[in-house]
Amino acid sequence: MSTPFFDAVIIGAGAAGLFCAAQAGQRGLKVLLVDHADKVAEKVRISGGGRCNFTNRDLDVRAPHKHFVGQNAQFCRSALSRYTPADFIALVERHGIAYHEKHKGQLFADRSAEDIIAMLLAECAQGRVERWQPCGVKNVVFLADEAGGSSAGSYQIDTDRGPVQARSLVVATGGLSIPKIGATDFGYRLAQQFGLPLVAQRPGLLPLTFDGQAWAPYAQLAGLALPVEISTGAKKERMAFVEDLLFTHRGLSGPAVLQISSYWQPGTPLAINLAPGVDLPAALAQAKVRSRKLIANELAALVPSRLADAWASQSADWQRPINEAADKALARLAERLARWELTPTGTEGYKKAEVTLGGVDTRALSQQTMECKAQPGLYFIGEVVDITGWLGGYNFQWAWASAHACAQAL
Ligand code: FDA
Repeated sequence: MSTPFFDAVIIGAGAAGLFCAAQAGQRGLKVLLVDHADKVAEKVRISGGGRCNFTNRDLDVRAPHKHFVGQNAQFCRSALSRYTPADFIALVERHGIAYHEKHKGQLFADRSAEDIIAMLLAECAQGRVERWQPCGVKNVVFLADEAGGSSAGSYQIDTDRGPVQARSLVVATGGLSIPKIGATDFGYRLAQQFGLPLVAQRPGLLPLTFDGQAWAPYAQLAGLALPVEISTGAKKERMAFVEDLLFTHRGLSGPAVLQISSYWQPGTPLAINLAPGVDLPAALAQAKVRSRKLIANELAALVPSRLADAWASQSADWQRPINEAADKALARLAERLARWELTPTGTEGYKKAEVTLGGVDTRALSQQTMECKAQPGLYFIGEVVDITGWLGGYNFQWAWASAHACAQAL
C-alpha cells in the first residue's frame, strides 16, 4: 500500500493546530491533524476557568506587540494585524456563541469553553480535515526532491497509525505547561533536529514563591486579595501592572503576579504598591491629627484590615494610637506599604504555569508565513514559538493569528 499523501500534516490539535487545519482545509487543501492526547484541545477546555478567554478587545492592532513577550516581540505584528480580535469575534458570532467582556477587554464564552472547541471542530469538518487522535508521532524526515530546487521536497512522518507524507509540516505542539494534559517538548526537539535556534524556555504567567521562613509573617494573609501596582526591572526595562494580588500559603498569586512573572528575572526584586491611588503619607498625617485609634485601625480604612493588622504588627512603633506615633514612623509605614520590595525565591513551575516563555527563535521564521527560512515547508505556530502574550486572551489571539498566517501560505 502506498504512503498516504497530504498537502499538510499538522502536529498538535490544540488552539493553533485546529484553527490552522480548519483554515487550510477550507482553502481546499488535504489536511491531516495528529495529536497524541486522548482529548482534543484540552488546554482550551480548561482555559479561562472553563469559559475560555478567547481574545482581548484591547489588543492594539497598530502596536500589538505591546502585549507580548519574546526576544523579538515585534515579530508577532504581521500575523496579529492580519488576523485581529475582531476577526475572531466575528467567527464566534457566526457560530452563535454568546460571550461577554469581563475586565480590560477580556472576552469569555458565556456558557463554556466547550463551545469554542465545538466551533473549531465544526470549522475543521467544513474543511474536511482528517484528525488522528490519539496518535503519537515517532519520527519526521525531510525527503529532498532530487529533481526540484531549494523549495522542493516533502516530509515523511512516522505515526502510531503508520507513515504519511506531506508537502508541508506544521508544528503546533504548544509549550511545556501542564504536562499532565499532554504538553511535551516535541516542538523544540523537532526544531533542533532541523537546526533551528531555540530561546531558553521557562514557565510564565504563574504564581511566585518565597522561602518558608521569609514568608512566615505573610502566610497568615493567605486568601487575601487586593488591587496593587506591581513592578519589576530596572528603569528602562521596568514593567508595571495594576491588577489584583492574591496572598497564598507559599507566596503570591493573582493576575498581578501572573502578569509580572513573565517579566521577572530570578534573583531580582519585585516592588509592590499595596495601596495604589491612595496618598498614604497625607492620609496617615491627617488621621494623626483627628484620631486616637490604633494605627492598625486607621490603616484599615485605607487597605484591607487583615493587611493593616499584619503590617502594623511588624514594628513596635506602629502598634500604638496614631496620635502618639512619631511622624517618621508613620512616614516609614506609608513608604513600606507603597513600596514593598521582596525577592521571590522561586515559582510554582510548569504544573501551574499558563504558558511557556521562550521557544523557537523567531529569527529563524518568516513573520508573514511562520515558515522556517532555512527549511522549506516546515512551519511553527502558536505557543511553541518564542512569543508569549499577557494574561487576558492574548495567547489565544496569537494562536489564532499565527495559525491563520500559516494557513494562507500552505
Ligand atoms: P496547545 O497547548 O493548545 O496545543 C498543543 C497540542 O499539541 C496539544 O493538544 C498537545 O496534546 C499536542 N502535543 C504536544 N506534544 C505532542 C506530541 N509529541 N505529539 C502529538 N501531539 C502533541 N490563553 C488565553 O489566551 N486565554 C485563556 O483564558 C487562557 N487560559 C489558560 C488556562 C490554563 C490553565 C493554561 C494552562 C493556559 C491558558 N491559556 C490561556 C494559554 C493557552 O491555553 C495557550 O497559550 C494556547 O493553548 C496555546 O495554543 P497552542 O495550540 O500553541 O498549544
